[in-house]
Amino acid sequence: MTAMQRVGFGSHYAVHLPAPDDFAFWRERARGLVQCDVPPDRVSWIEPGGTGDLFDPDGPSRGEKRLPAPPADPRPVRASQRFLTIARSAALHTDPARFGLLYRLLWRLQSNPRLMEDKADIEVRRLEELAKSVRRDAHKMHAFVRFREVAEEDGTPHFVAWFEPDHHIVRAEAGFFMRRFANMRWSILTPRGCIHWDGETMREGPPAQRSDAPGGDPVEDLWRSYYASIFNPARLKVGAMLSEMPKKYWKNLPEAELIPQLIAGAQAREARMVASGSLDRGERPSSLEGLGAAIHTCRNCPIGQLENRAVMGEGPLGAPLMIVGEQPGDQEDQAGRPFVGPAGQLLDDYLQAAGIDRSTAYVTNAVKHFKFTWKGKHRLHQSPGAKEIDTCRWWLEAERDLVKPRLVLALGASAARGLLGKTVSITKARGTPMHLEDGTELWVTAHPSYLLRLDGPAREEQARLFAGDLAAVKARLGELAG
Ligand code: URA
Repeated sequence: MTAMQRVGFGSHYAVHLPAPDDFAFWRERARGLVQCDVPPDRVSWIEPGGTGDLFDPDGPSRGEKRLPAPPADPRPVRASQRFLTIARSAALHTDPARFGLLYRLLWRLQSNPRLMEDKADIEVRRLEELAKSVRRDAHKMHAFVRFREVAEEDGTPHFVAWFEPDHHIVRAEAGFFMRRFANMRWSILTPRGCIHWDGETMREGPPAQRSDAPGGDPVEDLWRSYYASIFNPARLKVGAMLSEMPKKYWKNLPEAELIPQLIAGAQAREARMVASGSLDRGERPSSLEGLGAAIHTCRNCPIGQLENRAVMGEGPLGAPLMIVGEQPGDQEDQAGRPFVGPAGQLLDDYLQAAGIDRSTAYVTNAVKHFKFTWKGKHRLHQSPGAKEIDTCRWWLEAERDLVKPRLVLALGASAARGLLGKTVSITKARGTPMHLEDGTELWVTAHPSYLLRLDGPAREEQARLFAGDLAAVKARLGELAG
């Protein structure tokens, strides 16, 4: 015990936390105190003075003394999983009394292991309130961080965002942004400390001020035009919008300045939409880069709300062949690139065998986000629903419109639906070209992960059909080029 300080006579202890969000430190000290039978009214939990000390290396250990050594056979400390989960969030709250509350609850859990089930208990309720408010703050951070592009000295783009969290959530949320924007160099500046990602390592920095962050730039225009294009006047509910996007965040959101005029124009736009029967989301970005930046903002279906990131297609503009899969998988989500996992490797082998050079094709997916469910620590793939595929069609069409392939190859039923807007049977559709609305040829075949799930004669049969479909596509590309 190095961080306990005996205060005055008797046995009152002050624990200095190294940082206001250091739950692990609190947990370790709290366990020791419980083992030494130190009741809650004899402990003060002291966090660094104000946010200014968050990253002060000299702050926490000032004047600490040892607590009496724990007994030789310390009793086990009881803490239910439920308590620890809620406590981990609540510890990030700015309420200065939170660590004391956590310790009182931990103390009481020793004699009442079911304490957390007592919904009427005032301390349990307070803990849940704190955790809820922290979760809400994290949700706002996920939704409202807006990056502005700045060029570094060597010309590489760096994206910088300013955000004002209510609680000490910055470090805890770093992983979310690291996964979502893994391939970008970015910094999130906040008055509670900063985080910087260079594509490989995460660094922390001291608190920043609003003026340290850049103002508007072309990325802002993109956000604005994207927001205007997805704004659906038919769904406008001003009350709900204000509760989801409180005014406090507006000043950092480039699109927010459009809100008054969008609300004002909503009725007229809705009337036009109803008259034309169209749910058109407006102008599409005019470059693949613009599309790639805008796609990250999409929250139009529940998949885009998960802890994942949009995976844009890749390949050259004007590629003669566009290959469309279902949705990114776990590995694609992490790499930010389509078809890099096991299904992608199988696809690469078959493309090579058919004489199709993947680098000359544009490879993408019908759905841009990875849909999954958690099983323990693993993310299990879930197939997208028809509604989700149809919602994402807007992006797929935007990609197709820019790339302008001569031939599109759909891998599996979800891809076919994304392209056609209706469900087709792969068995019936394969082998004979169809046509998309603008006349582009569409070929449909099985998805490579279907092959991965088979074995024995069934796999051999499907492998033969798949190879045959790719060979037919290669031959047809030759004809179309000629
Ligand atoms: N499966 C797909 O459909 N797409 C990918 O990008 C990866 C696996």
